[in-house]
Formats: sequence, C-alpha cells, structure tokens
Amino acid sequence: MYLSASPIPAGEPETPLQAAFAARLIAWQRRHGRHDLPWQNTRDPYRIWLSEIMLQQTQVSTVIPYYERFLARFPDVASLAAAPLDEVMALWAGLGYYSRARNLHRCAQAVVERHGGAFPSTPEELADLPGIGRSTAAAIASFAFGVRATILDGNVKRVLARVFGIEGFPGEKRVENAMWLLAERVMPDGKATNDELSAYTQGLMDLGATLCVRGKPDCARCPFEADCVARLSGRQRELPGARPKKTVPTRRTWMLVLRDGASVLLERRPPWGIWGGLWSLPEAADEVSLAERAGRLGAHPSLTRLAPIAHTFTHFKLDIEPRCAELEAARPADANDDETAWVPLAQIDEYGVPAPVRKLLDALKGPLL
Ligand code: ADE
Repeated sequence: MYLSASPIPAGEPETPLQAAFAARLIAWQRRHGRHDLPWQNTRDPYRIWLSEIMLQQTQVSTVIPYYERFLARFPDVASLAAAPLDEVMALWAGLGYYSRARNLHRCAQAVVERHGGAFPSTPEELADLPGIGRSTAAAIASFAFGVRATILDGNVKRVLARVFGIEGFPGEKRVENAMWLLAERVMPDGKATNDELSAYTQGLMDLGATLCVRGKPDCARCPFEADCVARLSGRQRELPGARPKKTVPTRRTWMLVLRDGASVLLERRPPWGIWGGLWSLPEAADEVSLAERAGRLGAHPSLTRLAPIAHTFTHFKLDIEPRCAELEAARPADANDDETAWVPLAQIDEYGVPAPVRKLLDALKGPLL
C-alpha cells in the first residue's frame, strides 16, 4: 500500500497506483460513466466550448435547458459573435456568474476575428481566449481535438486529493501547482488514442460528479476503492483539505455591570474604534484596574464574576469578562449626562448598545427585575 503524505516532488519514481490510474479510470468510464449528455458524441469545438463554459460552477441538470436554447438560437460561433450582447445576456439570465456570458460573447468574436471562425486546437491558444482558463482549455482540446492535456477543476482536485492523499487546501497556489504536476503525471501516456484521451477526461469529471462527491462518496462503487488513500485511512471527509481559517488575535476586556436596583450604568464609547459612539459598560484592561474603576464609581468592593462572553469581529476575537457590583450609596440626581447614563434594564433597547453587551444585560433582566 502506498500512502503519500504530501504532494510528490518532481523526479520521484511513479508509484504503482499512479501508473495504473489512467487505464483503470478509462475502463470505469466506459462501463459506468456518462455517455448521453447533450454535448457528448460530438467533436464540434463550438458545442464543447459552450458546454464547458456553462458547466463552470453549474450543475449538469441546470445547464441542459440553457445549452439547448442557446444552440437553437446560436447554432455556430459566427451567429453568436454577430449577436447583440443584450440578447446573449437575456439567454443566459438565471444561469448566474454573468461575467461568463460577457466573456462568451467576447470569445466568440475573438474566434471569428483572430482565428477566422475556427476554434484553435492547442490548449495554449485556447487558454488565450476570453473566459477560457487552463482546465477549460484542456477539456476543449481533449474532447474536440483528442489532444493530450489534463483538466483540473474542483471535482478533479477532490478525486486526486482523496485517491493520492494530497494534503492541503487546493485553492492554495502551492497545493494547486502540486496537483497540476500530479494530474499530468497520471494522465494517459503519449500512446493513447483520441478516444482514450476523451474517455479519460470524461472519466475524471464523471467520477468526481457521481461517486467521489463532496458529502458522502460512494466508495463501494469506485474503481480506486482498494488503493484510495482517503478510503484506506477513513479520511474522505478531511480530503481535500478545507480552506484554512484565518487566525485572528484574541483581546480580553473586563466590563463592569454597576447596578443600582434595576438600573445599570452605561458609558458612551469614544467616537472612534470598535463600537464608536455606542453606549456600553465601563471597561478596564484587567481585573485589578476594573476593581479600581468600580471603587471610583462608588461600587461596593465585592465584585461578582459573571459568565464570560466571546464575540468575533472580522479582525479579532473579544473575550469579555463581566463583573457585577452594587452601587454603595445613593447616586446623585444629576448623574446622567452626554457620556453617562443610569438606565433601567427594561429600557436598554432605547440605547445603542453593542450586541454582546446587550446579550449580557438581557441575561440579567430575569434575576434583577
Ligand atoms: N463538468 C464540466 N465539464 C463537464 C462535462 N463535459 N460533462 C459533465 N460535467 C462537466
């Protein structure tokens, strides 16, 4: 059994699974793959290109009616190139990712102007056209012209990550580059026929779309069940690796809930920084400083610990350590001003109070009212 822990360095010898991959995938595609999709059984590059653009980020079942309407209205690249953009956009409406439709129109015009209306056959020239990336160029070259070029879309990345145990998030350049190298290494060799090359490309798509799916892969029916690294190690859910979570710093702050019966003391925050201008609780950077502030505000010296609250901002996490105290003496009648307010808990909603502070005060309503 071969367990590759990470992307293969170039120059490492081919493993038995890498060597067997293409033939086994082609055999599986011929028996169990999809053969009757509307853009199959043709070598017309226009039809293949149109389907590949529509199938970017969109499911087969959604694409089919759009594909058929498009072809009925624009049967070839010249008619599409000559159409007003508005009409193209109207036919695309509902399929989403509308830059695809604008690029589709520009691409049709470029094929007419640069290539005399005939799609070029090499992946390099195809990838030079609007809206055609490296993987789409390879799909078109492979299906329309039987060129030996590998695709690498989201489905294929999932298959490769699982079968060969490629660690890391495939959206990361380093991982993606390693996957391109692997995809090129495992594709059929230079002796493969055109039919084998298209069955291989279709097989990668079919395996990723029908068995090796994101949620619950159907490993029992997979031709790589016996060797798949993810299957053998029970890591189908972990491969491919998830987008790394941004690690954000954590700040801690101490807040004082100073009570006078059913009222609490709020302070207006400075106009800048987080919660600028909102009403919040008196704060300090540590427990001792909070106790000192509480003393200056006339609190009874014993502070009660309340349950901490965590709040996530885009750039940091805030851990709030609330402490509760009772006002020791009666508060002066003129205690409220622009910056300070004694507010009955039942009226907190009338003040702009940040959500986590509101949550903290809401939790006190029961015990205090
Ligand atoms: N997804 C992308 N290209 C596809 C194709 N040709 N057939 C099925 N699904 C696809």
